[in-house]
Amino acid sequence: MQILDGVLVSGAIKEALKMEVAQLITNGKKVPHLAAVLVGNNGASETYVASKVKSCAEIGYKSTLVRLDATISENKLLGVIEELNADMDIDGILVQLPLPKHISDEKVINAIDPSKDVDGFHPISVGRMVLGAPGFIPATPHGIMLLLEHYKIDTRGMHAVVVGRSNIVGRPMSILLSSNSNPGNCTVTICHSHTKNLREICLQADLLVAALGKPEFVKADMVKEGAIIIDVGITRVVDTSKKSGFALKGDVDFASVSPKSSYITPVPRGVGPMTIAALMKNTFKACMDKN
Ligand code: GUN
Repeated sequence: MQILDGVLVSGAIKEALKMEVAQLITNGKKVPHLAAVLVGNNGASETYVASKVKSCAEIGYKSTLVRLDATISENKLLGVIEELNADMDIDGILVQLPLPKHISDEKVINAIDPSKDVDGFHPISVGRMVLGAPGFIPATPHGIMLLLEHYKIDTRGMHAVVVGRSNIVGRPMSILLSSNSNPGNCTVTICHSHTKNLREICLQADLLVAALGKPEFVKADMVKEGAIIIDVGITRVVDTSKKSGFALKGDVDFASVSPKSSYITPVPRGVGPMTIAALMKNTFKACMDKN
């Protein structure tokens, strides 16, 4: 069993970007600038956005954090997006999800200028991804592909099973793994809450991506010997022994599953840091595409 170390790989990606930024500065060019919009004060979202802003600083990007009250109207939020679209200095815009219930994710995502859509959630970005055309790939699936690439894992011909069909992870992941690329070229099954015989399907997986958001859902009896396990889950569960009062749990029962796996991502320090590295790559691309 080998750990797929998201901290190590994301660190290397961020280091390479830092050198690119230093080169931009030497050449008197503009540095990438990411705008992050955070609505309300969901604890997990606060942590994710803080990590994104911190990574920008480490690499040498500019960042702007736009904090908005949970009660902001949809129209006001759309107005904020319009301002960020029009701001020539800003290369990338992300709106942290989930949004409060009275705001439509779809309307907000559709309002982002596709050339600044570093989350890759805009229909134009999704369309390009499905067609295999250049564009922004959603950060979590992109980060997972970068991780597989770093460890030179040849997934060609594998049966990949993706559990979870969110627009953020499961669906784009299924597209990337089935695309004619490397890594990619898998036969993909996508499972969800209505899937029958989920355990039997998971047992067929050479590569299993767990992205359903249920802590420790995938147990050893659902996993084939030698499978590659990608754990996207990151749920806060109460843990009074921790200073924060919670522990982070993946969707995979790491203790029982890891001995059966060939490669596995831990939680934390697996997919999470790769998501941020992929976002940083997308932001760099947004800045370069403009010039
Ligand atoms: N919420 C959970 N994951 C993500 C992500 O990758 N981007 C944004 N904007 N929100 C998220």
